[in-house]
Amino acid sequence: MKPQLILLGAPGSGKGTQAARLVDELGYNHLSTGDLLRKEIKSGSALGEKVQGIMNAGKLVDDDTVLELLNANCDLSSTAYIFDGFPRNEEQAKALDAVVLKDAASKAVYFDIDLEKLAARLVNRRTCSGCGEIYNLLSKAPKEEGKCDLCGASLTQRKDDNEDTVKTRLQVFKDTIEPVLAHYEASGRLARVDASQAPEQVFTALKEIAK
Ligand code: AP5
Repeated sequence: MKPQLILLGAPGSGKGTQAARLVDELGYNHLSTGDLLRKEIKSGSALGEKVQGIMNAGKLVDDDTVLELLNANCDLSSTAYIFDGFPRNEEQAKALDAVVLKDAASKAVYFDIDLEKLAARLVNRRTCSGCGEIYNLLSKAPKEEGKCDLCGASLTQRKDDNEDTVKTRLQVFKDTIEPVLAHYEASGRLARVDASQAPEQVFTALKEIAK
């Protein structure tokens, strides 16, 4: 089986964009803890209510909650996953190994990019409410304003993609990423891609790593 792939990178570094292509072209399953949490909020569940304020403020949800959600949504026995947005700190990295991956082969990829470039990407991101296609008003605008090119559904903006929250999210990332990278470096599982390249080039690099 292909290695389980762990995408590490700042908000806006392109993890979700690349995950969608890896699913389409290499047959991975995409597991995004951000998406799972947003689904809880949309459903109005007690968990959704609990995490809503934290996410809108750009802070991290507690480790136990996210790990439980992740574990309930993956079954490594039959398929290879892309872990997107997890782990966010060293504790989550250790838990992913011990509780979820166990002895499954895995590789981590760091989406390396100057954080200064990311606020513009994030505030200009729009997502299709129907099929989830990711757009950007600067670099990948829809043909018709507010409408998905693929399925025609309306485009939405994430609540945490505003300037203030983006600042917090990038700061949280800066404060937590180094021990995570060290965790994967120490076990020889860390690769890096230059995430400032065009999406096509980033994808070419990822395909090599996923072999
Ligand atoms: P989450 O949903 O994981 O968001 P994130 O990590 O902040 O990452 P994003 O989804 O914003 O960015 P991305 O890298 O996927 O970028 P994308 O491809 O869309 O987390 C949200 C919140 O949930 C957290 O703040 C936290 O509260 C909570 N949470 C989630 N997981 C958690 C965990 N494990 N523990 C605790 N809390 C957790 O691209 C962005 C834009 O850039 C798009 O418009 C795209 O078109 C454009 N773009 C992409 N690639 C390129 C490129 N190469 N060149 C130019 N533009 C590009």
